Amino acid sequence: MSALFNSFALKDIVLKNRIAVPPMCQYSAEDGVANQWHDIHYAGLARGGASLVIVEATAVSPEGRISPNCLGIWNNEQATALASIAQSIKDNGSVAGIQIAHAGRKASANRPWDGDDHIENDDPKGWQTIAPSALAFGGNLNKAPLEMSIADIERVKQDFVEGAKRALEAGFEWLELHFAHGYLAQSFFSAHSNQRTDQYGGNADNRGRFLLETFAAVRAVWPENLPLTIRFGVLEFDGRDEETLQESIVLINKMKEQGLDMVSVSVGFSTPTAQVPWGPAFLAPISERIRKETGLPVASAWGIDQPEDANRVVQEDQMDVVMIGKAYLADPHYTYRLAKALNVDKPSWVLPAPYAHWLERY
Ligand SMILES: Cc1cc2nc3c(=O)[nH]c(=O)nc-3n(C[C@H](O)[C@H](O)[C@H](O)COP(=O)(O)O)c2cc1C
Repeated sequence: MSALFNSFALKDIVLKNRIAVPPMCQYSAEDGVANQWHDIHYAGLARGGASLVIVEATAVSPEGRISPNCLGIWNNEQATALASIAQSIKDNGSVAGIQIAHAGRKASANRPWDGDDHIENDDPKGWQTIAPSALAFGGNLNKAPLEMSIADIERVKQDFVEGAKRALEAGFEWLELHFAHGYLAQSFFSAHSNQRTDQYGGNADNRGRFLLETFAAVRAVWPENLPLTIRFGVLEFDGRDEETLQESIVLINKMKEQGLDMVSVSVGFSTPTAQVPWGPAFLAPISERIRKETGLPVASAWGIDQPEDANRVVQEDQMDVVMIGKAYLADPHYTYRLAKALNVDKPSWVLPAPYAHWLERY
């Protein structure tokens, strides 16, 4: 059996293989409420054999949505619709995960296929964004956010807590906090976006405070026996990477003391001038370092879809779980493609019988 198809246990959850579909925004909700698009999309991914399907960045408050069409988890109507998605992911054979998020200064944007740029505050579809400091991201996201007060910080932490409670009630078994990609939490951590002079800005301890406090508050309401993970941009590719990595490792280790179960290693995306060295599995060595220096299980993504790469990064202990995104948009049964390429002999290990039966001979 190839390493990619070994099971993986974390707390009370067992993943049947090492392949997860990472959160991928569908930009297809109205008022943050999931609909038939999401139902079919997520059920299809689960049916296709990935062991874990993580529902896209789901905003903990209205102003935390990336676009007006992003999912939300700040009210019960949204939670009810999400419960049906969690159920269909489980009914179709995967573990149901969800990423809860606040987009910070990158919020209030048009969908990628409608321009990916900020929607102005005076446009009925747009809203005032908030962030640690009143600094715009730049590029096509040029709108300046309002600097958050301490009361704002307390409120957003509580929004994460309420979101986590709703996610649990909705039946999700794996919770990921979105601390990556230049959204609110990452923008507290990054000096590119955080110029505060209070206890939430300045040195690395202070810049990590919002993340640590949010994590601890969520851990207090998320059951001990279920995985609580973060997606975190551990470096920016901005020329200060060693320093950022060291700061990230210190922060992750503090969260580990507070009950962090796993890290999904990603990029900060806090500045439009980053020089990201895109390429197959380019984050694998970084993921391996985080795994070694924190002792936590890790997952990672970005260009790890080729079968040999996906298998190798697990086999060589660079990560415990491989996140594969776009290949699953192209083919929800991508697990089957991986299994075939790696000579995993029985499709029934990968797909449900109504498909697998025919593919045994195909
Ligand atoms: C359409 C789309 C939406 C995405 N939305 C999210 C998201 O909601 N949260 C997140 O952390 N990453 C998001 N990402 C990043 C993916 O999770 C993943 O890291 C990325 O696609 C790289 O993996 P891949 O090379 O296998 O596609 C998104 C990517 C795509 C293509």
